[in-house]
Parts: sequence; structure tokens; C-alpha cells
Amino acid sequence: MQPDDAEIERLYAYPASDRPWVRSNFVATLDGAAHASDGRSGSLGGDIDTHVFSILRSLADVVVVGAGTARDEGYGPSSVPIAIVSRRLDVPDALLVPGQIVITTADAPAEALARLRDVVDVIAAGTGSIDWTQVLEQLAARGLTRVLCEGGPSLHGDLVALDLVDEICLTVAPVLAAGEAPRIAHSPTAVDRPMTLGHALDVDGVLLTRWVRDRT
Ligand SMILES: NC(=O)c1ccc[n+]([C@@H]2O[C@H](COP(=O)([O-])OP(=O)(O)OC[C@H]3O[C@@H](n4cnc5c(N)ncnc54)[C@H](OP(=O)(O)O)[C@@H]3O)[C@@H](O)[C@H]2O)c1
Repeated sequence: MQPDDAEIERLYAYPASDRPWVRSNFVATLDGAAHASDGRSGSLGGDIDTHVFSILRSLADVVVVGAGTARDEGYGPSSVPIAIVSRRLDVPDALLVPGQIVITTADAPAEALARLRDVVDVIAAGTGSIDWTQVLEQLAARGLTRVLCEGGPSLHGDLVALDLVDEICLTVAPVLAAGEAPRIAHSPTAVDRPMTLGHALDVDGVLLTRWVRDRT
């Protein structure tokens, strides 16, 4: 049975924390595919997943998303700032509007960076690769501590490898996909990150789960 919105908000409330809290939100098939056969993930978890997706946004201060996902899923502005992560500064036009954020490296091409800074807020941290500790500090300095990472698998894999993911909200869609879709996180290095179950809700066969990083 579907819980009402107040109950969903209670279940997914961010914990009180004096540091940035990084939550990721994904949907996957029973066999671990991170997208459907059409290459997109939006429809995989049905209406309940879409509903929880929007409630998770409403609970967050900022949505952090990889440029690949923003491009594939057609991201545009939302009620919360979207912070798009791109090394190449390949930002969809729809996100090139005031209020949005671009996260990149400090050694990104200077001219392109300057052009972006005229329009959006830019966080440029790290040389060669993004320095995520600095990025989280800079988001926190803007009052954005409830961080929601909406993927994709490359960005998520980087954050998991760095052990910066505090929590994952994972919807398990009752479908098998086979094919060559990625899992919800991949990175050059494999790691072990124990997680503790927060909740698991069965809504008409769609499993809504929340898992918290076990740092004990
Ligand atoms: N199942 C789900 O819940 C879910 C969620 C999200 C996405 N997806 C699916 O995942 C697929 C996209 O996967 P993806 O792995 O390509 O997505 P992604 O992580 O969103 O995008 C990869 C791109 O984002 C930028 N990026 C990511 N991490 C970076 C880092 N640490 N430093 C600098 N730039 C970084 C780079 O952009 P530049 O090339 O611009 O430098 C990179 O090419 C789509 O099919 C989408 O539907 C599924």
C-alpha cells in the first residue's frame, strides 16, 4: 500500500547533521540494470518512484547530477538548484540559467569557465579531477548541506569510491532487463562499503529502500 506524503517525508527526512549529507537516489531492475531498454531510467520504477523522486528533491538543498545523466534524461531547472558535474563543461542549454550550479575542475578551460560564470554559479575545485571534499565545503558555504545525487553511475561510482555517499535511496523495479546497461555505480577501483537498511517498503511490487552508510 502507498504511504501518504507525510509518511514518505518522515521516512526520507535528512538526519540532523552538522556536515554535508550526501544522499543518492537510484532505480534499478532486479538484475541490476540502471536503465531500461530505451537507455533511460525515468519510467523504470513507475508512478511511485517518480513520486518519491520528486519528494526527495523537495527535501534536498541541491541536486548534484553528472552531465551524462543531465543530457540523457533532459534535465532542466527545478525547484532546487541543479549542480551539474562536467569536466568538459558540456552543459545542456536548459541548465544555463541563473540559479543553477556547475561543478568542474579548477584547470578547466579558462575562457569557457569565465563565460559560464557570467550566467551560473561555478564551483571549480581540484586539478585534473574534481576535489569532492572542497566541493562539499563550497556547497555548505552556500547553505547547501542536504545533497541529493541523482547519478549517473559514473558520478556515483566516483563518490562511492571516495566514501562520500552517506545514504542511498534505491528503488528496485520488478523487471528483468539483461542487456548491457551499467549498474548504479561504477569506477576504476572496486571498494567495500557496508550499508545498513533504513527501510524497505513494498508498494504494489515496487520496492522502495533506503540504506545508510555503516561507518562503525
Ligand atoms: N537508474 C538510475 O536511477 C539512473 C540515474 C541516473 C542516470 N541513469 C542512467 O545512466 C546513464 C548515464 O550514465 P553516465 O555514467 O554516463 O552518467 P553521469 O555520471 O551522469 O555522466 C558522466 C559524465 O558526467 C561528468 N562527470 C561524472 N562524474 C564526473 C567527475 N567525477 N568529474 C568530472 N566530470 C564528471 C562527465 O561529463 P563531461 O563529459 O561533460 O565532462 C562524464 O562524462 C543514462 O542512461 C541514465 O539514464 C540511471
